[in-house]
Amino acid sequence: MTRSAIIRVPIEASLAEAAELLRGGGLVAFPTETVYGLGADATNGLAVAAIFEAKGRPRFNPLISHVAEVAAVAALGDLSPMARRLAEAFWPGPLTMVLPRMPGCLVSELATAGLDTIAVRVPSHPVARALLRAVAVPVVAPSANRSGHVSATTAAHVAADLGDRVAMILDGGSTEHGVESTVLDLSQAVVTMLRPGAITSEAIARVTGCEPERAAPVSERPTAPGQLESHYAPHARVRLGVRAPLAGEAVLAFGLPPSGHPGPVENLSPSGDLREAAANLFAAMRRLDATGTATISVMPIPETGLGEAINDRLRRAAAPR
Ligand code: TXA
Ligand code: MG
Repeated sequence: MTRSAIIRVPIEASLAEAAELLRGGGLVAFPTETVYGLGADATNGLAVAAIFEAKGRPRFNPLISHVAEVAAVAALGDLSPMARRLAEAFWPGPLTMVLPRMPGCLVSELATAGLDTIAVRVPSHPVARALLRAVAVPVVAPSANRSGHVSATTAAHVAADLGDRVAMILDGGSTEHGVESTVLDLSQAVVTMLRPGAITSEAIARVTGCEPERAAPVSERPTAPGQLESHYAPHARVRLGVRAPLAGEAVLAFGLPPSGHPGPVENLSPSGDLREAAANLFAAMRRLDATGTATISVMPIPETGLGEAINDRLRRAAAPR
């Protein structure tokens, strides 16, 4: 018999209860400004293991530790002068930094997959921050979806994917950015972008002085699972860069949609706005998938700005499974 999670609008009392559940080793899903996170006490190895189990996630995949305050990061990772500048510019917010793990860091080895680095982020979402303050330990939170599946941008998505596997879902409505945080590796001399995300490489370059390096191909980075080829995948087959969709295909449109298309159409942004498109991406894919269509055809999306993160997710959704 499966048990469904309680969905709660996050008022003071439910935040206290959620913090209590986390401290007891339970899993709580919560909104962030990017996507919903599946949270566990990062210092509790059993709780962290429960995340991998709930998501059906490959065990080598390291997790991001979330804290409420920038000052709390110093106990976890070593912030270089460059990392400090990035922290000042983007925290709280949708940037994740991979830092050398501090000696004495209390985060479970399982959360960092035995690496000598740790990924840290200070989210800006008020519910995430209130929860992190209440629980007062770092919280690991992968996106709150089954491993490899489309990320969750509403509480209902979380309930659909993981409802029987979490103790509570805090409902903060639709998430603002709709794509995950940008992951930057600050543990080496050269700043490398391991995952494009809600903060564009142009915005990073304005702080660091140059565009971040891009991560090496998957085969050379077995420990960076955000790099897995097939990821963010709906059930339907995904075709990219389609200008003339076939009859019967579902269409993920951007800008002017194909007129009179016989089949389901979701438009990421009729006005061609990349921020709006990112915010709508995962929910639109879920809705098209729910129609039972065999194929989702995606119209071309520019590779500029947030288009890099959107196209990254779409390429993985389209990758052979
Ligand atoms: O926006 C986000 O980042 C969301 C919200 C919930 O905060 N979280 C999220 O977590 O997307 P997840 O687990 O789906 O993605 C974590 C990414 C993966 O690509 C993982 O490989 C990378 O961070 N990562 C974590 N620790 C790492 C490390 N020590 N070295 C390199 N990459 C790491
Ligand atoms: Mg994910």
